[in-house]
Amino acid sequence: MKPFLFVTDLDHTFVGNDAALTELSQRLDQHRQEHGTKIVYATGRSPILYRELQQEKNLMQPDALVLSVGTEIYLDGNDHPDAAWSEILSAGWDRELVLKIVKFFPELALQPDSEQRTFKVSCFLHQEAAANILPQLEAELLNCKLNIKLIYSSGIDLDIVPLTSDKGQAMQFLRQKWKFAAEQTVVCGDSGNDIALFAVGNERGIIVGNARKELLQWHNEYPANYRYLAQAVCAGGILEGLKYFGFLE
Ligand code: GLC
Ligand code: MG
Repeated sequence: MKPFLFVTDLDHTFVGNDAALTELSQRLDQHRQEHGTKIVYATGRSPILYRELQQEKNLMQPDALVLSVGTEIYLDGNDHPDAAWSEILSAGWDRELVLKIVKFFPELALQPDSEQRTFKVSCFLHQEAAANILPQLEAELLNCKLNIKLIYSSGIDLDIVPLTSDKGQAMQFLRQKWKFAAEQTVVCGDSGNDIALFAVGNERGIIVGNARKELLQWHNEYPANYRYLAQAVCAGGILEGLKYFGFLE
């Protein structure tokens, strides 16, 4: 068996079905030891919220962590975000100006302080208001010549991040660093902030059976034969997909 690069979202993808999570973790850990497979968690969570989940679910140590929707990469258990990645994100990013514009929109409520990061401004925005507010907000930000992108997930979470950053671009940074072919890379997710993982290239994709509407809509619009829609939920869906692609027996 060949090594592969395994990249997964955490909430409602890797985590959410405890029995399947235990089985999947054991199989991945064994593959890592025997074949040099690499494991990456790619989540919207900040370091604080990641650590909470890591302890609660006793998640195994990954080879790299992609936190805050791709705006921070931590290699080999390092406490500091990778400087080369931060450097790429800093061009054209001005978080004070982003915050100033956000305050013009009463529909946007800032998320807790722990989720406001160097390269990420996060708000809550209700689904009913989103279709109206998102284009207006984007136009305002672009008007100020800000190099940003909006990522909306789960009918509530809005992340404003640098244009050069999302989970997909962070994944490719690691894939190229470690020299894995796209065919030997598999990405897994359930919601809006995972679309970037599936959209950035032709890495193998696993959409778990419990995926959110926004991801399923996107998948129906842009179907691809290197993407698998699982029946089973969370880690059970990942196991199903890894077998489908032949990464696991
Ligand atoms: C996580 C983060 C939050 C973000 C969301 C979607 O829940 O804590 O800040 O908005 O993911 O990316
Ligand atoms: Mg998720």
